[in-house]
Amino acid sequence: MKTKHSFPPQKLAVIGDPVKHSLSPAMQNAALKRAGFNYTYKKIHVTPQSLENFCLKARQGKNKLAGFNITLPHKENILPYLDWISPLAKLVGAANTVVNHQDKLLGFNTDGLGYVESLKEETDFKFSATHVTLIGAGGAACGVAAALAQHGVSQLNIANRTLSKAKDLVKRLSPHFPKTRFTPLPLNREKFHQALRQSQLITNTTSLSLKPESFALNFPDFPWQKIAKKTIISDLVYTPKMTAFLKAAKNHRLPIHPGLGMLLHQGALAFQLWTGQYPDVDLMREVLEKKLRKKS
Ligand code: ATR
Repeated sequence: MKTKHSFPPQKLAVIGDPVKHSLSPAMQNAALKRAGFNYTYKKIHVTPQSLENFCLKARQGKNKLAGFNITLPHKENILPYLDWISPLAKLVGAANTVVNHQDKLLGFNTDGLGYVESLKEETDFKFSATHVTLIGAGGAACGVAAALAQHGVSQLNIANRTLSKAKDLVKRLSPHFPKTRFTPLPLNREKFHQALRQSQLITNTTSLSLKPESFALNFPDFPWQKIAKKTIISDLVYTPKMTAFLKAAKNHRLPIHPGLGMLLHQGALAFQLWTGQYPDVDLMREVLEKKLRKKS
């Protein structure tokens, strides 16, 4: 396809420390090429010490970027170096996407919205009048909780090993979403099990799925038998694609929602912020799946 902008190409990137593992360049470059944009998308290794300087240089001059994604550990720490932060990114306290608009860095957060988009694309989850239980109360839970509340979920249980963190998250989010009832819960207690039984969506936002079998070890009494048959079991982790949590759900014949969709759609929303156009998400998914097959 003919490119939509002539020379020089605009530069996009993902920054992180480490950043080597990022799958974003592969999916973004494929989508940019397919849409005919003359953009390049690269990985840039940025340490915490060099984050401020990186932001200064990204605004203008020879290192200018048209936009960039932010991965760990900079999502929170970058906020003071941006010129404007979207209300959602401010509420969540983290940005994963920056748009350079007239040499000003504008920060957005597409992680939670990407999760919502992937639920819409891959499941028949209805957002309003539904109960959701999130397991975990860290940064990932915060983004997902805010996006779900924005989409009208009526009951949001936030269950966490450290109850005080679940309570803090509820305190932070609940004033902004008066239509959603937030409930902090401890793990592995009757109230937690009751919440699981009443939920239409159960999402593991903890990092437990990164280690094989650790979910079963940490949740020996997870009440699989009592979960309603149509409840969607979702995990934010995408490597492995079938986490121990999702495998257990599948064994109990419950519908599952793997983490890859969130990675895909947060990237698609970032693409839209940079280009004003929604990308070919089927192509991006294909690229991601191919990359992950190679890795495993
Ligand atoms: P992220 O930004 O990816 O969400 P995080 O902010 O470090 O990462 O949060 C990690 C989440 O995983 C937390 O909710 C953490 O629970 P605590 O707040 O009690 O630490 C949860 N988590 C990590 N290891 C866990 C374990 N072994 N059992 C239960 N929850 C665990």
